[in-house]
Amino acid sequence: MPDIPLLTGQDGARLPAIGLGTYDLRGAEGVRQVRTAIDAGYRLLDTAFNYDNEGVVGRAIAESGVPRESFVYSTKLPGRYHRHDLARKAIEESLFRSGLDRLDLVLIHWPNPRRGLYAEAWRALVEARADGLVSMIGVSNFTPEHLHRIIGDTGVTPVLNQILVNPYTPHDEWRAANAERGVLTEGYTPLGKGTDLAEDPVVTAIAADHGVSTSRLLLAWSVAIGVIPLPKSGDAARQAENLDVFDVELTDDELGRLAALSRGGGADPDTHEEL
Ligand SMILES: NC(=O)c1ccc[n+]([C@@H]2O[C@H](COP(=O)([O-])OP(=O)(O)OC[C@H]3O[C@@H](n4cnc5c(N)ncnc54)[C@H](OP(=O)(O)O)[C@@H]3O)[C@@H](O)[C@H]2O)c1
Repeated sequence: MPDIPLLTGQDGARLPAIGLGTYDLRGAEGVRQVRTAIDAGYRLLDTAFNYDNEGVVGRAIAESGVPRESFVYSTKLPGRYHRHDLARKAIEESLFRSGLDRLDLVLIHWPNPRRGLYAEAWRALVEARADGLVSMIGVSNFTPEHLHRIIGDTGVTPVLNQILVNPYTPHDEWRAANAERGVLTEGYTPLGKGTDLAEDPVVTAIAADHGVSTSRLLLAWSVAIGVIPLPKSGDAARQAENLDVFDVELTDDELGRLAALSRGGGADPDTHEEL
């Protein structure tokens, strides 16, 4: 079982330095897949109301035999429930679906700023935390402006901001803005799903030099730049492989070559509507 480091965020919150993406792991097969990930050592599990698998992740935790307090069960509030009373009910529904007695982390999934309700949603998360429904609260796909708005409104800083991060789309400015505010960065799509990142000649060359797979190299890069990556795999061997990244040490030259791959991309949270 790998020794996964813990990172410290707002108010002393402790979070594993890598987590499991669970998008598309559903049904009884999904429970089995999340359980193999838990057996491999994952303790931070990333789900969402909109993934239709909060029950799968909760069931896998319950069946695992691993103490409940070892986990960070993380879910996300959908855009259609940003209004204060709807947000509260959706968080309660997430709790019921999970089968747990408390959620560990709830994020606003997307800001949907055209609807103008993300600050209201944030206030509902702050209240849900005060009422004991959830231990930690955070955001996803928030730009520095969105962060500024909710922190200014409430005085409460999110523990983390989950954004797209991989060498093609490293989002340097957003990560810097998170760090300036003491907000941890979680990175989704760390393996570059939907792009040719894993076949990029720079990535394959550096991976070969270290004698590791491109997946391990990409995840070691996330760790090296201080991001908590959330690789998704439903395969037990690949889940274990993706945890074996903490002794892959990249040189400054390698980090520079990977930084040069940056090409932008990803949805613009100011215009992207996801409900
Ligand atoms: N907040 C948001 O808006 C947002 C958006 C997107 C994603 N996310 C979160 O981030 C998680 C990860 O992102 P993602 O699913 O987009 O992409 P990803 O983790 O970059 O890539 C997942 C893909 O890589 C494959 N894979 C995993 N490990 C591998 C390995 N060692 N070797 C070869 N292939 C491997 C998986 O297939 P197998 O399963 O067959 O191994 C899957 O097809 C999601 O599951 C979700 O939890 C959040």
